[in-house]
Amino acid sequence: MRMVDLIEKKRDGHELSTEEIKFVITGYTNGEIEDYQMSAFLMAVYFQNMTERERADLTMAMAESGDQIDLSAIEGIKVDKHSTGGVGDTTTLVLGPLVAACGVPVAKMSGRGLGHTGGTIDKLEAIDGFHVELSTEDFIKQVNDHKLAVIGQSGNLTPADKKLYALRDVTGTVNSIPLIASSIMSKKIAAGADAIVLDVKTGEGAFMKTPEDAKELAHAMVGIGNATGRKTMAIISDMSQPLGFAIGNALEVKEAIETLQGKGPEDLTELCMVLGSQMVVVGGKAETLEEARAMLEKVIENGRALEIFKQFIADQGGNPAVVDDVTLLPQAKFTTEVPSKEEGYISFMEADEIGTAAMVLGAGRATKESVIDLAVGIVLHKKVGDFVKTGESIATIYSNTEELAECSKMIYNSVEYTSRPVEKIKLISALIT
Ligand code: URA
Ligand code: CA
Repeated sequence: MRMVDLIEKKRDGHELSTEEIKFVITGYTNGEIEDYQMSAFLMAVYFQNMTERERADLTMAMAESGDQIDLSAIEGIKVDKHSTGGVGDTTTLVLGPLVAACGVPVAKMSGRGLGHTGGTIDKLEAIDGFHVELSTEDFIKQVNDHKLAVIGQSGNLTPADKKLYALRDVTGTVNSIPLIASSIMSKKIAAGADAIVLDVKTGEGAFMKTPEDAKELAHAMVGIGNATGRKTMAIISDMSQPLGFAIGNALEVKEAIETLQGKGPEDLTELCMVLGSQMVVVGGKAETLEEARAMLEKVIENGRALEIFKQFIADQGGNPAVVDDVTLLPQAKFTTEVPSKEEGYISFMEADEIGTAAMVLGAGRATKESVIDLAVGIVLHKKVGDFVKTGESIATIYSNTEELAECSKMIYNSVEYTSRPVEKIKLISALIT
C-alpha cells in the first residue's frame, strides 16, 4: 500500500477499506508516514467526509494505536461520560456517585483544567488529602467494592490522536465532524468504556457554536459508538452561560455536594438527571429513561448517592467530613460583591468570559504549567432571564488578593441587559438515543 494512492482515493471521494485506514493510522503513529502526506489526507477527509463505517474504523485504529485500559475485571457495564467542555460544569462530580448508587460501575479517567474550562481532577483535589494516583489493581478493586473510582490520565493512550490533533491544529482541519468524533470516541474506547454518554455543548462558550453543528457531531459519535459495539447516547446542552452558579474548584465541590443533597442549582440538577438517566439505561440498570430518572431521584432522597460520594472520598485518601461540613474545603481570604451598574433583565452572560475571569483569579490555568488556587472563584447570583436592580450583586468573587480590577471588569463585560423580560435559556435542546 502507498500513502499517495490513499490520499488520491479519499480526495476523489471514494470509501477507504478497514485495512487502508489501519495502514494510515499505524504508519503515521510510528513515523513511517510524514506530516506532509498526513496533512493532505486530513484535508481530503475535511472536504470528502467519511462514511459511518470509515469513521468507526478510524476510531478503532486510533484507540488501538497505544495502550488500552482493560476494565474487564470490573463486573457490569462500564459507562463513561464525556462533555465537550464547559464553564462551571460540575456534572462529573455529581454523576459519578449518582449513577454508582444505582448500581452502574464508574471507573473514570479524568483530566485537569486548561484555559477557561475546569478539570474534574483539580476539583477533587480541593478535598484535603484526595489523590488520583491509584495502581490499576487498586482502581479495579475500588470500583468492584464501592462502584466508583477516578484516576488521572496515565500511560500512552491514543498516541495517534495526540499527533493528529497537533497536526490538525496547524493545517486548518480541526473543524471536521469525522475527525472530531473519532478523536473523542477513540479516547473513551481506549480508556475502557463499554458504553458512553455524551454531553455535546453548544453556544458561545462551546466548541460547536450552533445547535445544528452540535447535533451533527452528536449523531456522528452515537453512530461510531453503535458501530463499534459501545451503546452510546448523547444530549445537546447549552453552554452560552456557565452551568450552575459556582465557578472554581472548592466552590464547585460545594455545589456538587449540595446537588447530591437535592439542593443544587436547577440547571445543574436537571443536566445531571438527564445525563444520569442515559448512563443508567446504557449501563443496563433500567429499561427506560423515565425508570432511570426515578432511580436517580430515589438515591438523592434516601442519601445513598451522598454515602457513595463519602466512601469514594475516603477510599482515595480524602477527608469525607467535608460532605457534612463544607467549611473544611479551602477558603478564600476575601469575598467581594459585584454590584450591577444597570437595571434590567439579563439577556446574555458569556460563559467564556466568566470562565476566563475565574482563571485570572487563579481558579484555572493560563498555561499547562500554571499553579492553581483551589479556594478561589466566582459564585453567580443571577443568570440569563433574571431581573437585576442597580446596585444588586450579580456575583461574589472569592479571592486571595484584593486586586480584582481585571476580574470584575471581565464579569461586567460578560453581562448584557435589556428592559423587556427575556426567556430563560433552554438547557437541553436534543436527546440522541
Ligand atoms: N476534542 C477532542 O478531543 N478532539 C477533537 O478533535 C476536538 C475536540
Ligand atoms: Ca457550576
